[in-house]
Amino acid sequence: MTWVLKTAQASLSLFTKKSDMSTILITGGTGLIGAALSKELLASGHQLIILTRGTKTSLQAGLRYAAWDPAKGEIDLEAVLEADYIIHLAGAGVAEKRWSKKRKQEILDSRVESGKLLVKTLTTHPNKVKALVSSSAIGYYGADPVIPNPRPFTEDDPASDDFLGKTCVAWEKSLDGLDGLHGTAIRVVKFRTGIVLANEGGALREFAKPLRFGLATILGSGRQVISWIHIGDMVRLYINAVSDPSVTGVFNAVAPKPVSNKELVLKLAKLERKNSFIPIHVPSFALRLAMGEMSTEVLKSSTVSCDKLHIAGFNFLYPSIDAALENLVSQHNP
Ligand SMILES: NC(=O)c1ccc[n+]([C@@H]2O[C@H](COP(=O)([O-])OP(=O)(O)OC[C@H]3O[C@@H](n4cnc5c(N)ncnc54)[C@H](OP(=O)(O)O)[C@@H]3O)[C@@H](O)[C@H]2O)c1
Repeated sequence: MTWVLKTAQASLSLFTKKSDMSTILITGGTGLIGAALSKELLASGHQLIILTRGTKTSLQAGLRYAAWDPAKGEIDLEAVLEADYIIHLAGAGVAEKRWSKKRKQEILDSRVESGKLLVKTLTTHPNKVKALVSSSAIGYYGADPVIPNPRPFTEDDPASDDFLGKTCVAWEKSLDGLDGLHGTAIRVVKFRTGIVLANEGGALREFAKPLRFGLATILGSGRQVISWIHIGDMVRLYINAVSDPSVTGVFNAVAPKPVSNKELVLKLAKLERKNSFIPIHVPSFALRLAMGEMSTEVLKSSTVSCDKLHIAGFNFLYPSIDAALENLVSQHNP
């Protein structure tokens, strides 16, 4: 394995020989992870095609947009046939809206229908795709069975029976069929992704919002464990998974040291505000009222292991929450 890489630049250098310049198709490439990943891939000279449901025109060299609509089974075939690799990130935002019955269906369908459409397209048209690297989520595992000090979930653990567990199972399964059964042999990698910490969006931005008013909002007891990963390491994982032919199968994409909600919020508050903040607990019942069923996700503990990544030789640039938050806060508070 070639994952023993110390810096983001080193990880890219794997992939930057002229002969290795590839065309990479990214579904959902307009989102949080996709935008960060696109920036790195473009900087290292790759050709990118972003599959989007929107209508976008690129003014950037090396980047073009192509259209698809997984709900209608429509996809720009030419774009797929041009690709050497596919990175599959598309899916309706899990924490974006309250989980009504309709929204849950949308969260599920947007992942499963898009996965099936990719597989159908790849298995019915001769193509040159070498690997498909997809997101999944640690929601696969559900809540820690014992608190505190549970055994961290590994890739061999069974899926949870709750909504996110079932969604992740169907999402991962939608990508089956590329292993040669239908005459294709495309390497498939799936990242069960933890909470991605980034300045541009996601959970960290939500934690940072009340800090503008000097409030460090701890959710519920604050003891629930968050398995997280810095956006920079997430991007490196995708790039390495694409470029290293020995990487295959399912990996948990989380940093080595999960933290409690309270620890994360207070560390962020100290970095952002020094000592000028007030910690407040938002009671669990208030979260349930405000968020409905989705509140279970912010209140549950989920302790996930990254041992498989370590064994594969992946070195995290941001293994601890201190390193991750110091880096992220320094980007806007130099
Ligand atoms: N960020 C995290 O903390 C985290 C944690 C675990 C797993 N993940 C997973 O990683 C993937 C990427 O995450 P992200 O944070 O970058 O997501 P994101 O910012 O929400 O972007 C996802 C992209 O998916 C596309 N999309 C949205 N609704 C869709 C629908 N109904 N049908 C098809 N496509 C749709 C959108 O692209 P267009 O509008 O251009 O089509 C959007 O830009 C997602 O599948 C997410 O569930 C993320």
